[in-house]
Amino acid sequence: MHIPVLSDEVIKFLQPENKKIYVDATIGCGGHTKKIFSVAPKCKIIGIDCDQQAIDYCEQYLHQFLDQQNLIIVKDNFVNIKEILKKINIEKIDGVIFDFGISTLQLRSSRGFSFNDETLDMRMDLSLPLTAYDVINNLSKEELTKIFLEYGEEKNSKLIAEKIVEYRKTKNITSAKELAEIVSSVLKQKRKKVYLKDTGQQIKYKFHPATRIFQAIRIFVNNELKNIYYGVNNAIDVLAQNGKIITICYHSLEDRIVKNIFKSRKDIKILTKKPITPQTKEIMVNKSARSAKLRAAQKI
Ligand SMILES: C[S@@+](CC[C@H](N)C(=O)[O-])C[C@H]1O[C@@H](n2cnc3c(N)ncnc32)[C@H](O)[C@@H]1O
Repeated sequence: MHIPVLSDEVIKFLQPENKKIYVDATIGCGGHTKKIFSVAPKCKIIGIDCDQQAIDYCEQYLHQFLDQQNLIIVKDNFVNIKEILKKINIEKIDGVIFDFGISTLQLRSSRGFSFNDETLDMRMDLSLPLTAYDVINNLSKEELTKIFLEYGEEKNSKLIAEKIVEYRKTKNITSAKELAEIVSSVLKQKRKKVYLKDTGQQIKYKFHPATRIFQAIRIFVNNELKNIYYGVNNAIDVLAQNGKIITICYHSLEDRIVKNIFKSRKDIKILTKKPITPQTKEIMVNKSARSAKLRAAQKI
């Protein structure tokens, strides 16, 4: 179902070994965890996710490892990694992976992550107080413009915010589909080019006009950037000597945070001078990998 992104590269940098302890901070559909177990079946993995649906899915999909007590699955925010480990009496870990962005499960959850969804929620963790519906229907034009600019880097932010506020005068915006249509009435569909280093190929793909706006609302609702900042820093703190941290980012806002943390921390050695991107053959079978960037570092 969900094909784990850059999974060979994750293994190359993590070099998992039996008896060592790893954290999959974004277990999602369990793809990377399963891959790590395929290399080191007797290692221990603590899988974290803030989405109950991911937890339920992984409890089924990875039940064999739960039964063998090689896997512990925790529903929590990865920001709390230190407290999570403390509760299960683990002091230091040998590696941690963060795969940011949304999972296939979430895209298919009808919670408003997809442009055709009939709802407008976008919370990964359903206990969070604010939904995308609240944001879109209650915030002022100025507040919406700021969110679209800051978290979507959308240059037509003001125009789209104006259109939304105008539309709201007649009725509330209740679905992702409705929101996508409003944005599409202002912006044209774009095409994006991706240059594939290994083959020198260039692929063009369609880019839904509302992509940046959806990204912005999702980041705001889920507090994603702050979570990345504190989650990555806290994870580095609990790495054992020589322990590895691997991150996979899907847009420049995420990647910038990781890049700056890696640069500023004096207790790690960067293993990826430049971020690793997927090979052509991976993108051909898994288009959600096309914008992925992997960075890795090792605790000194
Ligand atoms: C791209 S998916 C991970 C996919 C996974 N690596 C796999 O191979 O199946 C990202 C996951 O991270 C989770 N997530 C995002 N932010 C989180 C946070 N702050 N704390 C815990 N989980 C988070 C999401 O709910 C989602 O399930």
